[in-house]
This record gives sequence, structure tokens and C-alpha cells, in this order.
Amino acid sequence: MTVLVTGGAGYLGSHTCIELLNADFNVVVLDNLSNSNIESLNRVSKITNKSLHFIEGDIRDRDILQKIFTENDIKIVIHFAGLKAVGESCEVPLNYFDNNVYGSIVLFQEMEKAGIKKMVFSSSATVYGEPEKLPLTEDMQLSATNPYGRSKLMIEDICRDLEVSDSIIKNNCPWAITLLRYFNPVGAHESGLIGEDPNGIPNNLMPFISQVAVGKIKQLKVFGGDYDTVDGTGVRDYIHVVDLARGHVKAVQALENNLKGVTAINLGTGNGKSVLQLVKAFEQQNNKQIPYEIVGRRAGDVAACFASAERAQSILGWKAELDVNAMVKDTWRWQSNNPDGYC
Ligand code: NAD
Ligand code: UFG
Repeated sequence: MTVLVTGGAGYLGSHTCIELLNADFNVVVLDNLSNSNIESLNRVSKITNKSLHFIEGDIRDRDILQKIFTENDIKIVIHFAGLKAVGESCEVPLNYFDNNVYGSIVLFQEMEKAGIKKMVFSSSATVYGEPEKLPLTEDMQLSATNPYGRSKLMIEDICRDLEVSDSIIKNNCPWAITLLRYFNPVGAHESGLIGEDPNGIPNNLMPFISQVAVGKIKQLKVFGGDYDTVDGTGVRDYIHVVDLARGHVKAVQALENNLKGVTAINLGTGNGKSVLQLVKAFEQQNNKQIPYEIVGRRAGDVAACFASAERAQSILGWKAELDVNAMVKDTWRWQSNNPDGYC
């Protein structure tokens, strides 16, 4: 069975390509390399000893999509391609709506024309906005607090409208879409060959910690020490990227086995860890000191955010298996072997 992976050269996409190839899927990747390096896919082939078909191009390019759908017998699309930096999305919102929302519309239109209506979409816990209650369950109210989050919510809404359209216009090929809402993906493949390779100064906690560990940045700034949490620092549901990648294989298999309609599913562990708990785990497992100072809260941050992981278990038969020690060890193996990322 052949799967098209948009954004497959990126952090989550490259790890998912490994798990797909290991599960014997044929993989076609479409990526414009706007936030990735082709070397990630060379290494995917090295790790799996299998090849995939890479096409450099943009999801907004109809000609490329038509060519891909004509030349390959694609059955399911995993749609990772998108811009993902919250801060940047506030500065250039139109780029985010153009790339993420318009790009998804073009992709869905071309999929529909080609009769391909099964998809796994990269959504985010950001669609829950300010958590009303924890753990977060998929039926809770949705909202967005920035253009990036709004782009994810808009795409989710488009998918739900496609399901409504199927109920009005009855045809024999309805959409089947799984909206995977990721919590905080971290870590790297255990080979140390692929991992997260952010441009410039990282926005997210784990790549920031590992760049402090490798000596590129002097000190971690911990944003807020006065939250109502275990130690006053922010709590998140960190999930190992390899677990997340395996969740995608399960999602593809569920669609293959005829999971119907539009289904939102959290991919998280169900457990929260604080900033300082993550720092301590990194220090202990890797024998590295992470100098830090506690500074003011970061605008827009919530105190705590973690998933209910029950639906993933019941619908996909998936649960996270790798613990925080694996997350920090694998991150460090990648970072120390590749201090400058893929360059
Ligand atoms: P990433 O930037 O590493 O990967 C995204 C890939 O998509 C990149 O390789 C980029 O070059 C490609 N791309 C972007 N726009 C494109 C376009 N118009 N056409 C073709 N390719 C395009 O990001 P990631 O961390 O791997 O995230 C993958 C997806 O998961 C994104 O949609 C992101 O919003 C979502 N997500 C990520 C996280 C996270 O913490 N990493 C959390 C929640 C959701
Ligand atoms: N943090 C620091 N110092 C840093 C970076 C982060 O203390 O240098 C703290 C944050 O305040 C927060 C925690 O570490 O308490 C995690 O922050 P991240 O930036 O790593 O992750 P967020 O939960 O803030 O955001 C992530 C993704 C967003 C997504 C959101 C919800 O980056 O794209 O999860 O899914 F919208």
C-alpha cells in the first residue's frame, strides 16, 4: 500500500517515514524543503535499508499533486506539511493561512479529484486553547489563541465540513479523516541519525535544553516559576517522536481497515512533566549540567496541558511506550552526534 507523506522531510515526517517503511508501506514524500534538509530522508533510507520516493515541491502546486496522484497508486495521505512557529505566525499571519489553510484546500481538492479520500492530518493540542479541564479529552471545546492555532482549527473545521457534505451528497466514497492532535513531541530516533533540527534559536524547550548542553547557548531561561504546578514551572505532556510516528502507522492501518468519518485523536502520554523535571531528567541521564534561571512567564503560555490518551488506545490500539528518560537520552544522542544538525 502506498502512502503520500506531505512534509515528510521534516522532524515528525522523517520519523514517521521510518515506521511506515518498517511496516512495509511504500512511501512517497512531497516536501518543499522550506524547513528541512533532504539529508533527513537519506538517513531514513540508511536506517531502514529501504528507499522511498521523494518529490521536491509544494502542496499548493496542483500540477505536482496531479502528477503524483496519476503516477502513484496512493491510497492514504499523511498531511504534515505546514508552518509551525507560534510567534512567527503572529508576525506574518497571511503566510500561515496561505501555506497551511490554502495549501490544505488545494491538497484536499486534488485528492478528491483523484478519488483519494483517506487522510491523517497533523493537528495540535493548541486547538484546545486555554484548557477548561485536565486531562484534555477530544470532545472538549476548541478555540485558538494565535494564527498558527487558528490555521489548525480551520483545517480541522474544513475536514468536519467534508464529513457533513458526505452526509448530504451520498456517494460511495466518503471522506475518512483522522485528526491527530499532538501534545509535545520530543526526542529522536535511537540511531542518533535523525532528530529535530530547528532553524536559529529554538522556540521549544527540549531543543533549547540540548543546545545549552552542547554549548551553543549559555543558559536556559525557564519561563515562569510561580504557576500552580508541582514546582511552579509549566507542565506539558512530552511524547517521544518515535511513539508519535508509530501512532501514525496505527492511524493509517485503522483507515485501511475502514475507520469511517472524521475522528479527532490525542497523541500524548497522559502524563505531565514540569520544565524542571525535564531539565533534571536530562542532567541525570546524560551527565550534563544545564544552567538555568527562572524568568517571567512567556506571554500566551498556560500553566499545564496534558492529554487523555484513552481514545488513542480504544480506537487505534496505541499508547505511548517510551518514557522521559528515553526522550532525553535520544535527544542528546542526536544533538551530540550532530551539533550543527543536518548541515
Ligand atoms: P517541520 O517543520 O520539521 O516539518 C514540516 C515539513 O513540511 C518541513 O519539512 C517543510 O519543509 C514542509 N513544508 C512546509 N510547508 C510546505 C508546503 N507548502 N509544501 C510542501 N512542504 C511544506 O515540522 P514538524 O515538527 O515535523 O511538524 C509537522 C506537522 O505537525 C506540522 O503541520 C506541525 O504544525 C504539526 N505539529 C507539530 C508539533 C511539534 O511540536 N513539532 C506539534 C503539533 C503539531
Ligand atoms: N519553556 C521554557 N523555556 C524555553 C522554552 C520553553 O521555560 O526556552 C517552557 C514553556 O514556558 C512551557 C514549556 O517549556 O512551559 C514547553 O514549551 P514549548 O515551547 O516547548 O511548548 P509549548 O507547549 O509552549 O508549545 C507546543 C508547540 C506549539 C503548540 C503547543 C500546543 O510548540 O506549536 O505545544 O500543542 F501549539
